[in-house]
Amino acid sequence: MHIKSADFVISNSDYRKCPQHNLPEYAFIGRSNVGKSSLINMLTDRPKLAMTSSKPGKTQLINHFLINENWYIVDLPGYGYALMSKSGREKLQKIIEGYILNSERLTCLFVLIDSRHEAQKIDLEFMEWLGENGVPFAIVFTKQDKLSARQLNENIVSYKQNLAEQWEELPPIFITSSEKKQGRNEVLQYIDEINQSL
Ligand code: GTP
Ligand code: MG
Repeated sequence: MHIKSADFVISNSDYRKCPQHNLPEYAFIGRSNVGKSSLINMLTDRPKLAMTSSKPGKTQLINHFLINENWYIVDLPGYGYALMSKSGREKLQKIIEGYILNSERLTCLFVLIDSRHEAQKIDLEFMEWLGENGVPFAIVFTKQDKLSARQLNENIVSYKQNLAEQWEELPPIFITSSEKKQGRNEVLQYIDEINQSL
């Protein structure tokens, strides 16, 4: 899919104030610093569209971007940043949950996982929660450039085994590097296919 336009629309802490429209939304979630905002910039080929940082906890609001004037990308705050105050974390969790559970146009939530790490409880529990709430999601492994091909493959195989203990059917899985622009076509094609089917 060709990205003709990608425009920032609005940032919000409250899902009730998010844009009202009839277009599909694709949101990006995952642990703080996993690479959500970087992935959005890579997918749209706009390096400065979403704000990124080497320090966790950069994105603190729900950010809407209108793509090709017919679908939205939503950048969400990360979860699980251990060094944030308890009240800060609870606030972010409220923002995230409010959006995920109430956004009528959320079509697919991309759950980002750092491909370097073993399956973490916080992510597995989060996905379980999505399942319980009937939220459609796909998994995106990030930062593949930080691993050798062999190590990457081992990690993905092991992650899938872990997921298989919890899920009868695995969600769609993508492997990306925002640094090396890998996995871009696959994710965009997936979004395009859903858009065409709506
Ligand atoms: P929060 O908004 O804090 O939740 O973080 P985020 O998930 O949006 O992460 P962000 O995109 O800000 O990236 C965090 C750090 O990881 C930055 O230093 C990025 O440059 C780096 N990063 C993101 N994606 C990649 C990648 O594919 N490869 C490499 N090597 N670094 C990456
Ligand atoms: Mg971010």
